[in-house]
Amino acid sequence: MESIKAIKGTYDILPDEVVYWQRVEAVVRETMGVYGYSEIRTPIFENTGLFARSIGEDTDIVGKEMYSFTDMGSRSLTLRPEGTASVVRAFIEHHLDQKGLPQKLWYQGAMFRQERPQKGRQRQFHQFGLEAVGSDSPLIDVEVMKLFDDIAAKLGLDDRVYSINCLGGDESRGAFRKALTAFLDTVEDRLCDDCRRRKSTNPLRVLDCKVPSCREVLDDNPALPKTIDHLTEEDTSHFEQVKAGLYRLGVAYEVDVSLVRGLDYYTGTVFEMKYTGLGAQSAIMGGGRYDRLVGQLGGPNLPAVGFACGIERLILALKTVETNPPADGRVEVFIVNPDLTLEDKALAYVHALREIGISADMDYLARSMKAQMKAAAKSGAGNVVIIESEDGLVSVKNMATSDQQTMQFEIFLKTFEKELI
Ligand code: HAM
Repeated sequence: MESIKAIKGTYDILPDEVVYWQRVEAVVRETMGVYGYSEIRTPIFENTGLFARSIGEDTDIVGKEMYSFTDMGSRSLTLRPEGTASVVRAFIEHHLDQKGLPQKLWYQGAMFRQERPQKGRQRQFHQFGLEAVGSDSPLIDVEVMKLFDDIAAKLGLDDRVYSINCLGGDESRGAFRKALTAFLDTVEDRLCDDCRRRKSTNPLRVLDCKVPSCREVLDDNPALPKTIDHLTEEDTSHFEQVKAGLYRLGVAYEVDVSLVRGLDYYTGTVFEMKYTGLGAQSAIMGGGRYDRLVGQLGGPNLPAVGFACGIERLILALKTVETNPPADGRVEVFIVNPDLTLEDKALAYVHALREIGISADMDYLARSMKAQMKAAAKSGAGNVVIIESEDGLVSVKNMATSDQQTMQFEIFLKTFEKELI
């Protein structure tokens, strides 16, 4: 019978790999705490309308990539393709604005997008991210980027440069949209069918079209309008303060005037971090300001900013700088029992150690002494306890020095108890 395999674009994270995840998760949790962010957990599926209304109908995510299905109550539901929409929905639903502003929330979990799988691009992937709702200060744009930068630094990623740009508020984006539409009119015959339609519905989305004929018209074209040439004085000043804040905190950035991000909700500052050496899927994290979304989804008119980082891509980057992978599943003590009639002793010893917090393991396969010693070596244990007799006598082998001493198990246990004290 053919065996059942994991679905294309999804992966098992096996124990050797999980150690990287645990490291990332620990650093993320600690750093979020240091910056005063609280964790929020939202459902994995939501009403399809939530994503369509926030990410935007013309985006690749909503147009082509969502896992949507109809449930038994004829509702259209979608596996979340990102976290921002859900967090904003929860913020509104639970009136979190009443708990004080800004609300600083972070999350992590699985996201789903039906993309063509390749290295660094899965159909089920994981993000950690944050959303800071309720402040329009440029300092909070700086804070979120600095927070990510701290996480990346703690994980040992040294080549960190952020691309930043500013899309601006309604007035700035209106002026840019006008200029962009005028430009697109001049190249209309070279655009793909989708972009010809987007030109009037949502011209900004033409900028992230991947069709080669569109890219030819757009890439490095000096006639293509730039968002920063259409910013109001207020938006320009906001962007200048973001840049100054990043400079003060030592966060390296470059302005990329072509950065617009592929989701519709962005309004002001946008940013991304790419990690060279990851190939085509080098964007590790992305985010920006979305001052309209909370109001658009039926909440109070509150500004917000956030980012999300792809954990798989972050780990790929980590592996390019890491020479010693972290170890897991190792124990400090392994009990070897050469005589099946002494099995009760082995069980009692292993639990006596565990009770005082020493990681310990034993043989459960009734293996030969030689095979048990092999298993003990594989377990990474520093000490192997070989049961010698029924009256508590054991030989303790130090695996680093190969020294072996005979003693009562109680004495061996006491050496650990002393160390713990
Ligand atoms: P995004 O740029 O769509 O933004 O995704 C953020 C990150 O998720 C990407 O930079 C990438 O590392 C990772 N990612 C996206 N798609 C995949 C995939 N198919 N496979 C592996 N990794 C992937 C957002 O999701 C926004 N919600 C970010 C945000 C939060 N903006 C404001 N607040």
